Amino acid sequence: MKPAVLVSRAVFPDVVERLRAHFTVEDNPDDRIYTKAELIRRLAGKAGVFATGSERFDAEVLDANPQLKAVCNMAVGYNNIDVDACTARGVLCTNTPDVLTDTTADFGFALMMAAARRIAESEHYLRRGDWKKWSYDMFTGSDVHGATLGILGMGRIGQGIARRGAHGFGMNVIYHNRSRLAPEVEAECRARYVSKESLLRDADHLVLVLPYSQSSHHAIGAAELAQMKPSATLTNVARGGIVDDAALAQALAARQIAAAGLDVYEGEPALNPALLELPNVVLTPHIASATVATRRAMAGLAADNLIAALGFGPLAGKPPTPINPQVLQA
Ligand code: GLV
Repeated sequence: MKPAVLVSRAVFPDVVERLRAHFTVEDNPDDRIYTKAELIRRLAGKAGVFATGSERFDAEVLDANPQLKAVCNMAVGYNNIDVDACTARGVLCTNTPDVLTDTTADFGFALMMAAARRIAESEHYLRRGDWKKWSYDMFTGSDVHGATLGILGMGRIGQGIARRGAHGFGMNVIYHNRSRLAPEVEAECRARYVSKESLLRDADHLVLVLPYSQSSHHAIGAAELAQMKPSATLTNVARGGIVDDAALAQALAARQIAAAGLDVYEGEPALNPALLELPNVVLTPHIASATVATRRAMAGLAADNLIAALGFGPLAGKPPTPINPQVLQA
């Protein structure tokens, strides 16, 4: 008998079909968001789950489903999974790194440019029919080329943004990270390691690309915003909760910083209503990895992980991108 798996959200139908070759699949073509109670109920009897960032896998969910062996996220971020709780229970977790790096770096750069050059704000002005004449200071923003690009969180995506800035736009790139990169990686990204204080003080455009955890919660709040230049922009393509959105809305309203670009929010898909009222913030609905090719690659990798984690396919027992590989050794 085939093992059973849950596909928790709607996903490419051919990927679900691939899973059906190995598993009895309960999928969710209507794309309903399950409550915790429903997730627990639907996981009953399932050996694995193809998950997305919208479901939370914590000790309560795991304890209600002791038969669960694998949680395979279609996302690089995995703050929706309590990895320690999974490891303690022998549940393998996987994510989808690498396949989305360049797509997400492209988007981070685009959002930063949109904030710096006031693209969304000026487009809304035009669509409202307010454009009657040219004027010398209409929607003047700040330059990206030659400016100082600050990156907080210098993993693969941060490095991708650094390369775009340094090599494509002649930017002076500075970064702060939990650990300093190897000298050859710094040289290749043309990026200089600085303290968080220097990063906040010196960046013309600050981009956040660090993972969310308790220690990065509100890494950018009122105190940090107060250290930034009044002409600076802030872009968040990492996770909601890294920025204190209420403090950011206040800083933008007071022009303590010039503009922001946000793809992620505290409590998304809800967002702080103050942000919606502000002209100087570009808002997108968590789409940094959303190209057809990349979403296909992410779904394919999540499926490869699930198939291999449950002992099937050419990679049986060796899922390509485990988060807690120690579970495989146990
Ligand atoms: C998207 O936010 C991801 O983590 O892949």
